[in-house]
Amino acid sequence: MRFEKILVLDDELIIRKTLQEFLSRKRYKVRPVATVQEAMDQLQGDHDYDLMFLDVNLPDGEGTDVLEAMQGVENAPLAIMITGQGTIQSAVRCMKLGAFDYLLKPFSNDEINIVLQKAAKFHRLVTVNQELTSETSSWGNRTIIGSSPPMKALHDLTRSVARTDATVLIGGETGTGKELISHAIHSESLRRNKPFIKVNCAAISETLIESEFFGHEKGAFTGAVQSRIGRFELADGGTLLLDEVSEISLPLQAKLLRVLQERELERVGGTKTIKVDVRIIATTNRDLLQSVKDGEFREDLYYRLNVFPLHAPALRDRKEDIPLIAASFLQEYSRKHGRKLESFSPEAMELLMRHTWPGNVRELQNIIERAVILSVSGNTIVPASLPLEFQQLVQDSEGTGIQQSTTPETVKQPVAAASNTSAKAEANIAGVAKPASGEASGLVLAGEDFSLAAVERQLILKCLQECKGNRTHASEMMQVSIRTLRNKLSQYKDEGRAEFAEFF
Ligand SMILES: Nc1ncnc2c1ncn2[C@@H]1O[C@H](COP(=O)(O)OP(=O)(O)OP(=O)(O)O)[C@@H](O)[C@H]1O
Ligand SMILES: [Mg+2]
Repeated sequence: MRFEKILVLDDELIIRKTLQEFLSRKRYKVRPVATVQEAMDQLQGDHDYDLMFLDVNLPDGEGTDVLEAMQGVENAPLAIMITGQGTIQSAVRCMKLGAFDYLLKPFSNDEINIVLQKAAKFHRLVTVNQELTSETSSWGNRTIIGSSPPMKALHDLTRSVARTDATVLIGGETGTGKELISHAIHSESLRRNKPFIKVNCAAISETLIESEFFGHEKGAFTGAVQSRIGRFELADGGTLLLDEVSEISLPLQAKLLRVLQERELERVGGTKTIKVDVRIIATTNRDLLQSVKDGEFREDLYYRLNVFPLHAPALRDRKEDIPLIAASFLQEYSRKHGRKLESFSPEAMELLMRHTWPGNVRELQNIIERAVILSVSGNTIVPASLPLEFQQLVQDSEGTGIQQSTTPETVKQPVAAASNTSAKAEANIAGVAKPASGEASGLVLAGEDFSLAAVERQLILKCLQECKGNRTHASEMMQVSIRTLRNKLSQYKDEGRAEFAEFF
């Protein structure tokens, strides 16, 4: 979350203009409005204003009306009141209503700068605090999607364990949603208004992890210039997520065991014993019991953690969840990237269902974001927007290169890609490339684009022209199904390819 978008409400044109020019020069995005009504309209629903300058006396009300309307609203921007000399008292009233600061008219550029700096600093503090305590910004309102039997069972278990203080160990392959589940447990627990703190045990260096866990006192080691509070203390009253717990070294496992048993710790270099009230959730994508057998993980710690085990199932074992999860990512990324995508073509969905998803939901998420970015026009995700290996799944099973169009990557690999074409497709190209009129070649590649996709387009265009737009004849000529041809044409229509206009 950056501090960047500002609403300016003032009925005096000169003040609106001055503020707008000044703030725009500083690269803020500014929206000037002259009435309370316009300001309210801007602040409806899911707006993205970070700050607002509000005049007090306006033709259709007072700036305080806006303040009042925003009270208790979660994403309310910071408010800076603009007041005249005579209305100092109203400025005080505004502060009581939650205004952040005020500017006294007439104000100088320096004064604007000062309030801006104060507001930016405050905004930063709030953001850091939010991220540290709940990480709500990165997790947003994401919910665990899935209605397959294993996911239903997981939902039930998650819900029942959430309300207890039991330690939870979540296992499962990478990308199956272990971290998401841990967030869900915290937010359904009685600790939900307390901090949710995560330690990524795999990412922190061996030398720093102890201080990361328990904090340190000033001078505890070289570089410890200030004392620092550790993650256990930060999580006090709330939940601590030990992400990838299998990666902790044996010496630290011993220390961790003690905190889990006694619920007390000492900071590194400290002597005072600190009591902590923390609910522990641990995740692992390794088989922890195997690590115990291999002597890499302490057995006693394993049993301390494995109080309530949960397993996040692999996506390939619950393929029926794919359409639902895919649709949710489609919506999310269409909004994010300003696209109007609404659905998947049946062919594209079939490819998603065939894939085995070694990277699980994270892989699905990435594939969909990529497809959304590649789908510049149209409202449907087509196979061409999926990675090449997905399309090969179908090519392998159907033995034809023409049915599925190429990905944008193939566009960059001209001759090599064309040489992958199956013998059947090559025969087709050759057949059509020598029309009855005896021209040397019927295929003239526009703009010297030798990609397979371009060759395919040219071939289809040529056949359609040859058959005077009769799709049945054209598809017979190419030896592909009429449905394939129809899909291709609809794809070209979505892509805005004018040369096909007469055949749509
Ligand atoms: N059931 C689900 N519904 C919606 N989104 C999901 C689901 N499962 C996972 N995700 C999303 O997939 C991504 C990966 O999930 P998460 O980070 O929780 O996986 P993980 O199991 O912790 O993976 P790793 O072991 O690699 O850390 C996240 O963006 C998460 O929001
Ligand atoms: Mg994880």
